Amino acid sequence: MEFYSVVNTRRSIRKFRQEEIPSEILFRILGAGRAAPSASRPYEVSVVAVKDPGRRAALASLCNGQSFMASAPVIIAVCARNVKKNRGGYMGEYGMLVDGAIVADHIILAARAEGLATCWIGSFDNAGIKEFLELPRDINVVALTPVGYPADEGSFSQPENKKCFEEMVHFEKWQE
Ligand SMILES: Cc1cc2nc3c(=O)[nH]c(=O)nc-3n(C[C@H](O)[C@H](O)[C@H](O)COP(=O)(O)O)c2cc1C
Repeated sequence: MEFYSVVNTRRSIRKFRQEEIPSEILFRILGAGRAAPSASRPYEVSVVAVKDPGRRAALASLCNGQSFMASAPVIIAVCARNVKKNRGGYMGEYGMLVDGAIVADHIILAARAEGLATCWIGSFDNAGIKEFLELPRDINVVALTPVGYPADEGSFSQPENKKCFEEMVHFEKWQE
């Protein structure tokens, strides 16, 4: 799928078909996350893919009861290790959130390229998920997404709800 079609037709989709994702496709989208740029060396982002139906339901309940997540055949949790140093920016320990967010976005866009629906999930119980997924103490959750085929293919053409280009983009300096 052409790159700009991928980015312009990605939508947060919350209804999924009961259809498995072939493993080679799942591996491809997870591999796209691996290709993301990162501030840390060694690389500190990891993903946990949850397929078991009971575990999906438990994970969804740890996302403030967003039960729609469990109806997708896979839920991906993107996690990152706390980093003590950064690359000279001001973000310090929060830099791991940036690294994790880029990985999550790569996965979400790759999923769209494969005809799969996703929904970035930022509302979750980090401590609860850490325990549930048995994450090491210094690793936290950055984002999750359910991944599956959309119940309605038309969801990809839902009207977008974005800032207009002129409002968002400035050339040379900020212009009111
Ligand atoms: C950091 C972040 C956290 C989000 N958390 C949730 C969430 O917990 N549950 C949910 O249904 N959608 C969540 N979303 C999805 C947004 O609601 C969605 O991206 C936004 O409404 C724009 O719609 P679009 O993704 O279809 O372009 C989140 C998105 C981001 C970027």
